[in-house]
Amino acid sequence: MPALDSSILLAFLDAGDQPVSGDRLAKELGISRVAVWSRLERLRAAGFTFQASTRKGYTLTGVPRELNAAWLDAQLRLRKVAPPVEVLAEVDSTNSEAERRLAAGQEAPFAVLARAQSAGRGRLGRRWHSTPAGNLYLSLAFRPFIPPENLKPFTLWMGLAVCAHVEAAYGVKLGLKWPNDLLSADGRKIAGMLTEARLDADAVRELVFGLGLNVSSKSKDFPPDLRDIAASLELAGAEALDVNRVAAEVLEALFVAWDQFIDGTWMPTFRARWQRYDILTGRSVRIGLRGEPVAGIVDGIDDEGSLVLRTGGGRKTVVSSGEVTLRKE
Ligand code: BTN
Repeated sequence: MPALDSSILLAFLDAGDQPVSGDRLAKELGISRVAVWSRLERLRAAGFTFQASTRKGYTLTGVPRELNAAWLDAQLRLRKVAPPVEVLAEVDSTNSEAERRLAAGQEAPFAVLARAQSAGRGRLGRRWHSTPAGNLYLSLAFRPFIPPENLKPFTLWMGLAVCAHVEAAYGVKLGLKWPNDLLSADGRKIAGMLTEARLDADAVRELVFGLGLNVSSKSKDFPPDLRDIAASLELAGAEALDVNRVAAEVLEALFVAWDQFIDGTWMPTFRARWQRYDILTGRSVRIGLRGEPVAGIVDGIDDEGSLVLRTGGGRKTVVSSGEVTLRKE
């Protein structure tokens, strides 16, 4: 991604609705006015639109509908998001790519995003449908060196951070369905999380947090078998969203949530967020993984993030992982 394109776009972001003069851009970037003009032409070819007005300069009037490395970089610079973030056109899975980069020694934290995934992965060996239609597929990589048991509430905390950001910024209240689904008010899946770790006996050495977030997919963008069960932020009521802005804001929220997780400041906020976004407490569910499925009424979660069920006769059963199916009440 040419750094110059990102700097030009950052100047437009800083200017808000105001026009940016070609002269000013040329001076600030140390290039000629002709070079500014030819850069703007290249950006136009990538899907940006600018309105030129004599004497005043250029106004940014439209942005690409897909991930654009320069535009995302400008948004990240505006928000002072420090860790490196890379955008790939297509990859098998951003989680797999982040794991490969960690294995190759890339310094963490960092994030990898892709416009499309050819083998996006979900939990329990499932596939994650990953069309290039304005959605986000991203993975954050860390080397935490924390005891493995401290990791348990991590995915829930990251999911709650996404819920809090989405409600505050786009006015859509998502629900967190333990342990990794983010659902719209009508129960359709808007996002899924996949946390993968490489552990040794006393520490988590490498950690990858993957998020698939449907931003602006229309129903027809999903394969027929997903149309009734999946949705996007826009389908759930958000105004038209710029996928690059959403990417930058979600990355910012996730990196902040990570810092809070590591320094312990997440704990006082966790319960309040859990109470606001959890959709399972009080519901009748069945949980299956291996062996016998367990049925009961969800009583909440324990301090480690495991689900607590009332399973009849005053008994409580604690479940640390599994697939939850809501039962008709
Ligand atoms: C699930 O709901 O089962 C989890 C889905 C996680 C999908 C994301 S998309 C980005 C990252 N890369 C992957 O291959 N999977 C995660």
